[in-house]
Amino acid sequence: MTNAFTPIEILRPTVLEFGCGTISAAARFAERIGAKRPLVISDPFNAARVDMLALPGAVKVFGEVKPEPDLPNLDKAVAMAREAKPDLVVGFGGGSAMDLAKLVAVLCTSDVAFADIVGPEKVAGRSVALMQIPTTSGTGSEAGTRALVTDPVSQNKQAVQSRFMLADIAIVDPDLTMTVPKEVTAATGVDALAHCVEAYTSRKAHPTIDLYALEGARLVGKYLKRAVVDGGDREARAGLSLASLYGGYCLGPVNTTAGHAVAYPLGTRHHIAHGLACAVIFPHTLAFNMPATLAKTAAVLQALGLPERKTVAFDSAYRFCTSLGIEMRLSALGVPRDDLGVMADEAHAIRRLLDNNPAELSRDAILKMYEAAL
Ligand SMILES: NC(=O)c1ccc[n+]([C@@H]2O[C@H](COP(=O)([O-])OP(=O)(O)OC[C@H]3O[C@@H](n4cnc5c(N)ncnc54)[C@H](O)[C@@H]3O)[C@@H](O)[C@H]2O)c1
Ligand SMILES: [Fe+2]
Repeated sequence: MTNAFTPIEILRPTVLEFGCGTISAAARFAERIGAKRPLVISDPFNAARVDMLALPGAVKVFGEVKPEPDLPNLDKAVAMAREAKPDLVVGFGGGSAMDLAKLVAVLCTSDVAFADIVGPEKVAGRSVALMQIPTTSGTGSEAGTRALVTDPVSQNKQAVQSRFMLADIAIVDPDLTMTVPKEVTAATGVDALAHCVEAYTSRKAHPTIDLYALEGARLVGKYLKRAVVDGGDREARAGLSLASLYGGYCLGPVNTTAGHAVAYPLGTRHHIAHGLACAVIFPHTLAFNMPATLAKTAAVLQALGLPERKTVAFDSAYRFCTSLGIEMRLSALGVPRDDLGVMADEAHAIRRLLDNNPAELSRDAILKMYEAAL
């Protein structure tokens, strides 16, 4: 574990607008920078309400972002952007739209291929402005430097990380999340929680981030059930927007660990939504890691309002998820038993995350988690 002597670099969007009604900042920012050709990158739901951004100029919309976007989806967005030559790229949607917007912003002014920028800090620069507007409370992608795209051939999530993909302005208006359906609210809320918990218990955990991690977990504990029960609960939605943002603060400098590594094959191989995959795996990695990071896991459980004892950690984290209506059985989500071995191989190979897990997680231990979750 690290301490305050350990160096850390923290990057945040230049401007952050947070709170109900801040969507009006989108037009103000675009006008201030003199944007004439804004390009909005969005999923079909949000593409249908782009007018609410009131952007100036000849606005173009790529409205075909798919959940868990893959390379062909990215290629289509980049092709449109190279044609449209935007001066401002706006990510308007959940993590899927915001991740593609980051990549579009750095790829649209050059012939650089996606494969050449996979990994940390391979991007040479960015010459168009970038605005991020989340409409789910989960990924915190608006605050970060990372974008994830699935390669349909290798069935792996490819991660690009670059300081040039950080937004010039992030606008977090909780009112935009009021329409998120129950199941998506529950799953994306546990994704935000997983970002906080995994960063807090990571080998790379750092005191400058711990505060956000623990407060993010507390906000999810306080508000997620409320937002699932009543999607119109504005206070709960605002609390979750904050939790998601704090989760995003955790991702940049610290990042996730085993929970996300073990969850990834569920999305890439079986098209289970990212938040749902993280939720299914959450109790398994939390309980596995608890002996290696006892005090911190106890603090997380307390923040969630759950008992802090090791013996009941799995059961209470599991019940926390089922009480939100989340389907926790892999078999019910379409994952066949005969794929578990390959999934364990793939998860175990995600060293960029597993190497920071507080406890060594073997391929067989991952397989056992999948079997237990089946
Ligand atoms: N960059 C990062 O740091 C980071 C972190 C975590 C996850 N991710 C990535 O983000 C993606 C998942 O993002 P997500 O969980 O936000 O889901 P998403 O963006 O895929 O959206 C999920 C669904 O919700 C709909 N939706 C979005 N906003 C809505 C609203 N306000 N009302 C009604 N429907 C709405 C979308 O149309 C979509 O069908 C994955 O690809 C994941 O890998 C990125
Ligand atoms: Fe996540």
